[in-house]
Amino acid sequence: AKRRQLVVGNWKMNGNQQSNAELLAKVVAGWQGEHNAEVVVCPPNPYLLPTFEKISGSPIFLGAQNLSQYDSGAYTGEVSAKMLGELHCKFVIIGHNERRRLQGETDAQVAQKFIAAQRENLIPILCVGESSAQRENGQHLEVIGAQLQAVFDQVGLDVFKNAVVAYEPVWAVGTGKTATPQQAEEVHRFIRTRLGDLAEEVRILYGGSVKASNAEQLFAIPDIDGALLGGASLDAEEFLKICKAAD
Ligand code: G3H
Repeated sequence: AKRRQLVVGNWKMNGNQQSNAELLAKVVAGWQGEHNAEVVVCPPNPYLLPTFEKISGSPIFLGAQNLSQYDSGAYTGEVSAKMLGELHCKFVIIGHNERRRLQGETDAQVAQKFIAAQRENLIPILCVGESSAQRENGQHLEVIGAQLQAVFDQVGLDVFKNAVVAYEPVWAVGTGKTATPQQAEEVHRFIRTRLGDLAEEVRILYGGSVKASNAEQLFAIPDIDGALLGGASLDAEEFLKICKAAD
């Protein structure tokens, strides 16, 4: 495939200086030189710079888990795209379901964050996905279509040239339940068709209980271009196995 496979480790709010150093030492040792696949690690914000120092010189990229839609100002606790850029982030996750559900992030905010990221040349990883109730009611494509449309309406389609989409069925995140290859394939195809002219260019990742044991099967699906990992990115051996499966 012409699309370069991408594996993104979203550490979420886990780790400490000691455990991060140990994890990164192993990951960096296991991922040197040239690879077909791209690998990104997304630590919590306080660890961005120490993480960058540890991965520099390796082919691993740095990403953030979230950003503010604003450039600067009285937004206590928020972090701007410019700040993330200064700390050497290349990617930023936007609209993760945990932020949509737990922080009440709206489609409109997600779209604004997407714009803010691109203004600073950060590559947005836009997360979409349905809840278990929506899946049971057969509404998953409708929900995902609406999540995408909310961003397309604000930013247009062209800018997806430098963006990544991640499909995360909410019922599969951290639950041990993975979408079946058929379920994932249906949604990835659907997202791709919604991308119009860019359909074959944009990378679409799958996220939700990806492990070394199911990665190969998922990566074998032509419309899946890699993975957004939570739990599996906290274990160096597991993470590296998945990176290698994508390579
Ligand atoms: O961002 C990562 C996803 O939420 C997947 O998490 O691999 O722990 O299920 P998980």
